[in-house]
Amino acid sequence: MQGKFITVEGVEGVGKSTNMAFIADYLRGHGVTVVETREPGGTATGEAIRELLLDARRTDICTDTELLLMFAARAQHLAELIRPALERGQWVLCDRFTDATYAYQGGGRGVPQARIAQLEDWVQGELRPDLTILLDLPVEEGLRRAAGRSTPDRFEQEKRDFFERVRDAYLQQAAAAPQRYRVIDAAQDLEAVQAALRQVLEDFCDA
Ligand code: TMP
Repeated sequence: MQGKFITVEGVEGVGKSTNMAFIADYLRGHGVTVVETREPGGTATGEAIRELLLDARRTDICTDTELLLMFAARAQHLAELIRPALERGQWVLCDRFTDATYAYQGGGRGVPQARIAQLEDWVQGELRPDLTILLDLPVEEGLRRAAGRSTPDRFEQEKRDFFERVRDAYLQQAAAAPQRYRVIDAAQDLEAVQAALRQVLEDFCDA
């Protein structure tokens, strides 16, 4: 039996790491074998591409290069990790996936959706996440939470209006695909966020 593919999305500072761990624990507690991974990255080659993409010194990277590197890392991730795990019946829990490309390269950088959709069809074929959890938070609050955590990477150096476009793109995607997306208000306290997550996972596992 094919495993399920769950992705977690959101702008910087929404609490993805803490909540990814919560989701993985919940699923394991329900007898599911979970493979946790992330994008860009998840494989040795993908992590090397990630380093290049996040390196704040790489101010020369043009938008098309950024877009293609995201999909290059994704192609490797699908071939080496995601598809084999799903075929073994394992569940894949991925910190960001193609929705991030629509949000960051599409919303943030202004790449036309149709171009991203072409690459998505090429690299992924029919494969799409079964469930996408969007942790949503006003940008200002997210940036406040993320501030001072570490030296800002190439994306974190962007200005607030970039992240406003990213958030808007995420919310539009969620509204356009309500059967796959669940939006969680990440401005609530952690207990409330995790109660909402538990409900989403319960419904998903029961379906
Ligand atoms: P993070 O995993 O630490 O959040 O960092 C990954 C960064 O890469 C984040 O700023 C979002 C960005 N990103 C894109 O711009 N496009 C993508 O397709 C993905 C997967 C990530």
